[in-house]
Amino acid sequence: MTLKEKYKDYFRVGAEVNLHTINTHKELIIKHFDSITCENETKFESLCPLPDKDTFESADAIATFAKENGILLRGHTFVWHNQTPEWVFKDADKELLLSRMKNHIQKVGKHYQDSMYCWDVVNEAIEDKTDLVLRDSQWRRIIGDDFMEYAFRYAKETLPNTPLYYNDYNEMNPVKREKIYSIVKQMKENGVPVDGIGMQCHINIYEPGVDELKAAIERYASLGVRLQFTEMDVSMFRFEDHTVLNAPSKELIQLQAKKYKEYFKVFREYHDVIDCVTLWGVADDATWLSNFPVRNRKNWPLLFDDNHEEKEAFYAIMDF
Ligand code: G3I
Repeated sequence: MTLKEKYKDYFRVGAEVNLHTINTHKELIIKHFDSITCENETKFESLCPLPDKDTFESADAIATFAKENGILLRGHTFVWHNQTPEWVFKDADKELLLSRMKNHIQKVGKHYQDSMYCWDVVNEAIEDKTDLVLRDSQWRRIIGDDFMEYAFRYAKETLPNTPLYYNDYNEMNPVKREKIYSIVKQMKENGVPVDGIGMQCHINIYEPGVDELKAAIERYASLGVRLQFTEMDVSMFRFEDHTVLNAPSKELIQLQAKKYKEYFKVFREYHDVIDCVTLWGVADDATWLSNFPVRNRKNWPLLFDDNHEEKEAFYAIMDF
């Protein structure tokens, strides 16, 4: 049985891929997943590194891979404070930056309109380190607090039939959750076309617990938006823990399986509001967590191991 078969009556099961893993992890991707997200290839700096230079080749190759294998592709992401080239903000006043934002969304949106089934229009715009609600970014500083509204409106004009998401991390933290809730609520009240909230779900084997997960799902769903878990992985370490291990202990492996199971149980319970659950990677040999928050520290956050074999966590979510 495969992941996508197991969950076909509930939601799609997705994986983050990149130009490399669509070859090295091809078999697993095709077998188990019915949605994929590009790790970096559809970000602003990858697609449009210079004002007069578009480099769509890598993203095009992934879009072709998706099509050839009958897998849907998520769009990630139009407007983000990170991985946006400097030229975008250079000498820009509000009007110029809005026109660059609009051009980017129109150009990329149209190019992939038959390839992408949804888009993260804005990524990680909410502040989580201070009491501020919006993160300080060049988008916000130059355009103003309503920069997201423009992004969603431009995206809807270009892609009227594509579900548009606001995507963020630490989205289950009660303080940040309320900020995300209030910003999306305000946008909905202003008639801004936000169709969904992307919950990234970068968690670890200890936290957050399912109560926080359920509270976040219920709070966001009460806005009448769709939900996706967009970047799930389950680190073997608490965020502050910089321990290095050669291999995870049996206890850690079991805790991870338990966490995945608890979460997937809740996802199933709430499947009527959840459209997709995406893992941020395919197997433990290729994960951003091997470089974050500790460079070159091995982590094992996914459902398949370094040899692409099924892990305890895989069995745990296939087994009920
Ligand atoms: O392309 C350069 C390469 O030329 C250079 O030699 C190398 C040296 O460090 O860096 C390469 O760039 C790296 C880039 O990934 C492409 O591989 C960056 O250093 C590295 O920081 C960047 O990391 C990506 C990260 O987003 C950037 O914020 C991760 O691969 C990617 O998994 C991660 O994905 C994000 C989601 O988009 C949003 N949510 C959080 C998630 C995890 O951070």
